[in-house]
Amino acid sequence: MNDSSVRQRTVVVTGATAGLGRATAARLADAPGWTVVVAGRDPHRTAEAARAIGGTPLALDLADLTSIRAFPGALDAADLPPLGAIVANAGAQYGDRRHTTADGFEATFGTNHLGHHLLLRLLLPRLDDTGRIVIVASGTHHARRIRNMGFPPPRWDDPRRLAEPGPGSGQVAYATSKLANVMTVLELRERLPELRPGSTIAVHGFDPGLMPDTDLARDYPAWARRVYARAAPVISRLPGATVAATSAQQLARMVIDADFAGPGGRYIELDRDGTPSAQARDRALAAELWDVSCALTPA
Ligand SMILES: NC(=O)c1ccc[n+]([C@@H]2O[C@H](COP(=O)([O-])OP(=O)(O)OC[C@H]3O[C@@H](n4cnc5c(N)ncnc54)[C@H](OP(=O)(O)O)[C@@H]3O)[C@@H](O)[C@H]2O)c1
Repeated sequence: MNDSSVRQRTVVVTGATAGLGRATAARLADAPGWTVVVAGRDPHRTAEAARAIGGTPLALDLADLTSIRAFPGALDAADLPPLGAIVANAGAQYGDRRHTTADGFEATFGTNHLGHHLLLRLLLPRLDDTGRIVIVASGTHHARRIRNMGFPPPRWDDPRRLAEPGPGSGQVAYATSKLANVMTVLELRERLPELRPGSTIAVHGFDPGLMPDTDLARDYPAWARRVYARAAPVISRLPGATVAATSAQQLARMVIDADFAGPGGRYIELDRDGTPSAQARDRALAAELWDVSCALTPA
């Protein structure tokens, strides 16, 4: 039963069927006043996660613009408390750049960046004036090895070319999509006064750290997954690494705690304020990314 003295709000968590998203959704579902929407692409996994967490399942495939465009209507029809937060967490990583979304975009950029970009634009008018947006990014968006734990660095390009499938490394595509996530955090903050005048919506970026206990490496070869899984307990203790449960605690705080109220926003690396890369802070690149993303994914 709802406690009438507690403000009732809804939070949409993308990628809430596994890993960081599922652990975060579970934490938020335990927080007083929050109704959690488990947004997922697979009906069975989404229903199972929602049941386990105590959330509301809603279909959302971020690799399909039709599915994304249908989501706000389904959210309205579910008649839940006002939308108080969006956690853009879902993410995918492939072995190469040949995978495509339903609309023909390179799948990593298409899912991690373009899908979320459209979703956020569609949900923004519904978000409470004091709402929060948290976009899950990654240290892999940094080019320097000391900051990205030796991951292949991002390779920025004209966003139209990034959206095109073709030859090339899936890891580079992943790091580049995460760079696009950070640029979106910073650019959305700049554009909020125009998009939502008078609101105090917060827009945060979150680097959860390397979490070897999630399924993100599911498309790696079987031998690599076996090695990674065996080494996970050691890897998770390295500087810059952690486990999903710990990062979920931080991510849930960014939705709930007064320290993360808007306007403005913070960029958190694991559990402290960090600084996005210089490339992510390039206003001209971020503005171009925003405009091209709108053109590629019309609402
Ligand atoms: N693991 C790490 O070391 C690490 C480090 C830095 C940042 N991150 C970021 O953390 C976030 C969560 O990743 P994770 O590590 O928790 O990975 P994960 O266990 O593989 O979870 C990924 C989630 O995204 C969902 N997803 C993938 N493609 C989707 C699509 N097309 N439409 C809707 N949902 C989709 C998955 O749904 P299904 O259940 O249907 O597959 C799953 O719920 C990602 O943004 C990732 O980039 C992870």
